[in-house]
Amino acid sequence: MKLSGAGAAKAMEILTALGRIHGARGMVEVGSVQVSGVSYNNIGEHGLAFLEEWAGMGSRAVVNATMNPGGADRRLWKSLGFSQGFIRKQERVIAALEGLGIKPTLTCTPYHVGAAPKLGEHVAWAESSAVCFANSVLGARTNREGGPSAIAAALTSMTPRHTLHTDEGRLPTRIVEVRCAVGTSADAGTLGYLIGRLVASDRGGGIPYLMGVEPPAGLECLAWLKALGAGMAASGSVGLFHLDGVTPEALAHGRKLAAAAKRNSVITSLAEGRRALNCGKGRIDLVAVGCPHASPEDLERITGLLNGRKARIPFWIFTAEDVRRRAEAEGTAAALKKSGAILVSDTCMVVAPLKELGIMTVATDSAKAAFYLPSHHGASVYFGSLERNVEAAVRGVWVSA
Ligand code: F3S
Repeated sequence: MKLSGAGAAKAMEILTALGRIHGARGMVEVGSVQVSGVSYNNIGEHGLAFLEEWAGMGSRAVVNATMNPGGADRRLWKSLGFSQGFIRKQERVIAALEGLGIKPTLTCTPYHVGAAPKLGEHVAWAESSAVCFANSVLGARTNREGGPSAIAAALTSMTPRHTLHTDEGRLPTRIVEVRCAVGTSADAGTLGYLIGRLVASDRGGGIPYLMGVEPPAGLECLAWLKALGAGMAASGSVGLFHLDGVTPEALAHGRKLAAAAKRNSVITSLAEGRRALNCGKGRIDLVAVGCPHASPEDLERITGLLNGRKARIPFWIFTAEDVRRRAEAEGTAAALKKSGAILVSDTCMVVAPLKELGIMTVATDSAKAAFYLPSHHGASVYFGSLERNVEAAVRGVWVSA
């Protein structure tokens, strides 16, 4: 591959230094890249200046590279109450990344918009829930890239070969036996949150091998797996889990993998996790679902749960712009709109400027959002199943389980 421009040279310097730090065995070629650090709210002026300077060096992505969500919907920002000042800065971040040849997909679920890697394929993804889903559910191979290292991978199609790119780096550190019901996606997120806390201290980063639990069949299956990984990525920076009899590597080598785990734990209840994540108080300002971004199947489920009823309070469903367009073509978006639900694209609910929007109390079905919103925004969070969130939107209050 012929690399050109000062930007690519800088990228190779970054990757070489990172490879040295991690004791990498050379570089590996990647099939796709996902870049994080897109919200202006997160990266600020320094981050924006850094990206614009890099974009000015004249190098472009040499592999399919996509962007994580930013902090605002590019189409609906005005009607949702975002300020012009914020959107201008956000657009400059996106423009700088586009200048580097990174596509403005603006989603944390690139696998819903045509960028799903194949089994065993090496990729360089950055967003924690996407990394966990790609490694665990799709059987791809990626470490969690930082913002600059992902851009460097995009400009070179390379990443250092270490940890989750290697067979030995994917062995489980601990068997986690689950002896309680894990029915809904919110339950899966809660389980993920508990597991993340449990394995965070495992040597070399925790990789759990789960037994005694399986996702539901049907429309909720993928959402359940997504939520499980997102929960453990949030609380324990877990980049890979194996689920006995379900995930591809556990299906192919379950016994061998389980034998490598040095530690054992048992989870008998989700109660502690539910208590920790569900701390909402007072009036709900916003019901927010779609963290990670909602799939077409999730939108179908929400439409079914609303069943034509009207939301009384703001109800935002975060999703990829491509998924929103598909929902418009298929009629799901019209049904959701009739119920007062808003499809918000390009946006991460955790890195959006919620305070500026006057949002202090949020209801959500996402353990990841419930984990981060209090620390990022001082928000009060009601956490529960998608069903409870839809009921909260329709009734205007959080209904006890
Ligand atoms: Fe996606 Fe933001 Fe949640 S990146 S997983 S919506 S925290």
